[in-house]
Amino acid sequence: MNNVSDFATEWIKSHGGTLLSEEELATKLADIDKQAEEKAAVDYLALKRKVYDRDSLWPSNRKATFTFERWLPERQANVKLATKIKNQATDIFKRLRSDNFNIFILGNAGTGKTAITLALVNALERYSHKTVMFVSTVALRESVMYEFSDLGARAKLDRIAKSMQEVDVLILDDFGSEVGMSGNGKQATERLQQFYMRVADARYEVDENDKRTKSTIVTSNNVRSELEGMYNDKLISRLVTKKTENVLLFAGLEDIR
Ligand SMILES: Nc1ncnc2c1ncn2[C@@H]1O[C@H](COP(=O)(O)OP(=O)(O)OP(=O)(O)O)[C@@H](O)[C@H]1O
Ligand SMILES: [Mg+2]
Repeated sequence: MNNVSDFATEWIKSHGGTLLSEEELATKLADIDKQAEEKAAVDYLALKRKVYDRDSLWPSNRKATFTFERWLPERQANVKLATKIKNQATDIFKRLRSDNFNIFILGNAGTGKTAITLALVNALERYSHKTVMFVSTVALRESVMYEFSDLGARAKLDRIAKSMQEVDVLILDDFGSEVGMSGNGKQATERLQQFYMRVADARYEVDENDKRTKSTIVTSNNVRSELEGMYNDKLISRLVTKKTENVLLFAGLEDIR
């Protein structure tokens, strides 16, 4: 592929040379290429984000947004604890801009886990070059269940799977709820396990410097051992981090729904 500067050089030559010195011309041409590349990178990112937006799965099919500004510690009785959790979330956001790691957000219903996750999504879209995809695990389970009902559903699920494997930051919201209440011996279906395993394997890849290239954010009402009861241990080990700095514990916060 030719750069804009290659065309410019040809054009200038065909018009009998330049009015600038060699050095000035070289600088100008390098500038032209830099601007073109930057514009192309911005446009390409916007296109990719549109695709991941299309493939996201929202609870009740409605896209939701939230921001750190709107996530108020004052909504909780334990303001101090809520402030600490918010600070930890903003610290995770800062590290996530340039690094890749998994995040586990654990807590009871209505304590603000999804809201803070959406705030992270919003901040990444505004202040980073990362692509993000939101997957409600309950909605995903339905898609996997009805995969065989028609060709359209199958094609859609294939697109979703590909995007889930490739996106920079994947959110698995309410992981575990799709299997049912914990502690009653319920296990995810074989098909769902296999679907997640393919996604988790692809997302665990590392680059030539042994650095992770993708991040996965899991929110759940279920502690790790409960998730291990529903899914294969290998899957949980790839998706659910144990690193305390990357675990947001909402224990002690109240249901404010
Ligand atoms: N700190 C907060 N400031 C403002 N609004 C909040 C806060 N925490 C929660 N909310 C609001 O309360 C409602 C419940 O929060 P959210 O859906 O994030 O809970 P959750 O922990 O994800 O629950 P579940 O486990 O049932 O999915 C939402 O409407 C959310 O926007
Ligand atoms: Mg939630």
